[in-house]
Amino acid sequence: IATIEDVDLTNKKVLLRVDMNSPIKDNVIMDTSRIRSHIKTIKELVELGSKVVIMSHQGRPGESDFISLKSHTEILSKLLGFNVEFVGDIIGPEARKRIATLEVGEVLVLENTRFLSEENIEMPFEQLMNTNFVKKLSHLFNYYVGDAFASAHRSQASIAGFPLVMPAVAGRVMEDEIKGLSKAINGERPSTLFIGGAKLKDAIKIMNHLIKTKKIDNILTGGLVALLLLKAKGYNIGKAEKIIEEKFASLIPEAKELLKYDNIFLPEDFVSDVDGNVEVVSSKEIKGSPKDIGPQTIDYYNELLKNSKTIILRGPAGVIEDERFRNGTIKLATESLNSNAYVIFGGGHFISILNDLPPMLRKRIGYISTGGGAVVYFLSGEPMPGIEALALSYEKFFKGLK
Ligand code: 3PG
Repeated sequence: IATIEDVDLTNKKVLLRVDMNSPIKDNVIMDTSRIRSHIKTIKELVELGSKVVIMSHQGRPGESDFISLKSHTEILSKLLGFNVEFVGDIIGPEARKRIATLEVGEVLVLENTRFLSEENIEMPFEQLMNTNFVKKLSHLFNYYVGDAFASAHRSQASIAGFPLVMPAVAGRVMEDEIKGLSKAINGERPSTLFIGGAKLKDAIKIMNHLIKTKKIDNILTGGLVALLLLKAKGYNIGKAEKIIEEKFASLIPEAKELLKYDNIFLPEDFVSDVDGNVEVVSSKEIKGSPKDIGPQTIDYYNELLKNSKTIILRGPAGVIEDERFRNGTIKLATESLNSNAYVIFGGGHFISILNDLPPMLRKRIGYISTGGGAVVYFLSGEPMPGIEALALSYEKFFKGLK
């Protein structure tokens, strides 16, 4: 992979793919860590005298976090200390006209890449190269900089399409993540992954892969991931039945397969919202809406965490946006850091509870990754299109020149 050092960026137009995908509540950005993480790369590109055009996605179509990048741009301006321009367009005449007239030192943000329906389809590389997205924009730039490590597991045009048709280098976040996580890949055993959250398709795929390849010793589950497994086991999961049935029913057969492994652990109890009251309920008799893992689960997960040498936390364990259901995620982080293991925090949810931890404990974190799903993909050795495309770009445009 080529990096920023390998190219002369003076006076050059650079298309920079970052990942500013942030937690959103009522259209407001709740945590700016992902945006902050890319400041280093953007500053460097500006200092090197390039003209920078930024693209990122935010949320997924149909979800409440699927919003414009206007407010992300305002945050970028504040963090960078100069005006960053936003254009509410991606490949249309408005965006292309503005890109054409961009001056050195100017930074422009395009609209949410997923507003283009094409971007939402994961495709093989040959097809990505031929998308409208890539065709309309690539010739307007000298270089592509891939900095969106957190999305590198997606075979989408903005991530893996451009590097195939133009010289592409890795940005600083991409570089740091690959270096930081490579250290953990050969981490000491036993290793434990905690996996929670609501991205169930990714979770099932990765659990399967990790268990079959024996890359991890224990998998502890929380969040909707755990509820899907419990449902597959035939348990009644209270008010979570609806979401699993409506959105994730197709994953139940695969989830059932995973139940036969005795190193995948399920919660014994939950903290549930029962008609507005917070109650601890047993996994065997879930009432109301289960929103966090319960105290018994925390104790028994803690036993496994204590004996681990490498821990990866890919959360969250519950609905941490609600104060009443933050405890499980915070406790798991605390217990992990109190062990002697090398602890990796993966993804926005664990990053957003950092302030809930005492500074002494925070210091013990081995590595904090901006990636959520991407971390687990990387550690499991699954190919990551965003990294593979950068490597292919190196082969095609740089090799032999060095
Ligand atoms: C993430 O938050 O994991 C990345 O931004 C990728 O988002 P996605 O899972 O919607 O593709």
